[in-house]
Amino acid sequence: MKVLVVGGGGREHAIIKKLRENPTVTEIFALPGNAGIARDATCVAVAATDIDGIVAFAVQNAVDYAVVAPDDPLVLGAVDALEAAGVACFGPRANAAIIEGSKIFSKNLMKRYGIPTARYETFSDMDQALAYMESAPVPTVIKADGLALGKGVVIAQTRDEARAAIRSMMQDKKFGKSGEQIVIEEFLTGPEVSVLSFTDGHTVVPMVSSMDHKRAGDGDTGPNTGGMGTIAPNPYYTKEIAETCMQTIFLPTIRAMCAEGRPFKGCLYFGLMLTPDGPKVIEYNCRFGDPETQVVLPLLESDLLTVMQAVTNETLADCPVRWSDRHAACVIMASEGYPVQYEKGYPITLPEQGLIFIAGAAEKDGRLVTGGGRVLGVTAIADTLPQAIHDAYALVDAVHFDNAYYRRDIGARALMAKEEG
Ligand code: AMP
Ligand code: GLY
Repeated sequence: MKVLVVGGGGREHAIIKKLRENPTVTEIFALPGNAGIARDATCVAVAATDIDGIVAFAVQNAVDYAVVAPDDPLVLGAVDALEAAGVACFGPRANAAIIEGSKIFSKNLMKRYGIPTARYETFSDMDQALAYMESAPVPTVIKADGLALGKGVVIAQTRDEARAAIRSMMQDKKFGKSGEQIVIEEFLTGPEVSVLSFTDGHTVVPMVSSMDHKRAGDGDTGPNTGGMGTIAPNPYYTKEIAETCMQTIFLPTIRAMCAEGRPFKGCLYFGLMLTPDGPKVIEYNCRFGDPETQVVLPLLESDLLTVMQAVTNETLADCPVRWSDRHAACVIMASEGYPVQYEKGYPITLPEQGLIFIAGAAEKDGRLVTGGGRVLGVTAIADTLPQAIHDAYALVDAVHFDNAYYRRDIGARALMAKEEG
């Protein structure tokens, strides 16, 4: 069985390592992958957004199954194009990927189907948005409608900050077309939980919950990033809350997408906030989270390819999905200066053992060198959360590259969950 994985970061490395556990998988191609992923897959220099190139490669190489991991190709219709060429796929079609591709679509969907989320208004006219901000309460949250590499969200503490954010999106076009329309929404508070789920459009199977650490600095300070580390499961996410989410969020979302003629097949990511009024949706992603995948998939005991194929074949209801009851922690080792400005090209020394997902690396003179903002996802699995965190940091100590930066407090908030009750 030949499998193709579209993408080239730590998330894709985690997916590839898991797929390799299936003995029927003879070859995995990563498009484009990276120099670290090249240890586990055949990397091919086709960009993740080059839909025609991806389809041509899949057909020429008789690929049996394709996993499209990143948001851009999904929103651009990579799955539609691969299916049209006869390649079985994991991932939503473009008409369902819009749940991440347009925040206005997803907010209106939640409103129409009574799915709990922050109150909001949408604007395509800057003057109307500015006028609304004259009386809207602060803090408030300003979101660009379209994809913006996770950076299109501004939490404005004051009306001046809100106005500046509106102008930068709608006048200065900071996010290009993605910011032509915006959402202004109510500021919510509470612990955040990421729940990735497998869904075939009818059945939804939540994966182990996790917690991301989005800000660059310790104590949740500094700019937003793609994610600086994760732990799983998320101790705030109790069995009772999980049941509430299933009834008020997960099933209603799956049914709403079907009712809209946009059945969602693939991994649907629920970004939740556990507010004093109950769990609410902060965002949907149409794909596996990064770096959530790096802690979730290592806890999957079932065969990943089998589960993915059940999603494709719409037989997920008959496919058992088992999870380990252990704990995982992932510390992202980044380049100093990420997410703003950073240097690349420093040689990386890795220990012989350990679960390390390579997010941004290149090869220079036969050596692995840093090649991105987020470089490695250093991961450990253990019987308890404190042990997993300890082991992940011990593994970090065994890695070396110049210019390395990482947060020292991954998991600290989660460890407080018990005390907060
Ligand atoms: P996103 O890029 O949509 O994941 O948003 C980035 C981060 O902004 C989220 O992880 C939250 O921490 C925060 N955020 C987004 N929407 C809200 C909201 N309505 N209230 C409070 N925080 C929010
Ligand atoms: N870690 C958040 C995301 O993948 O969007």
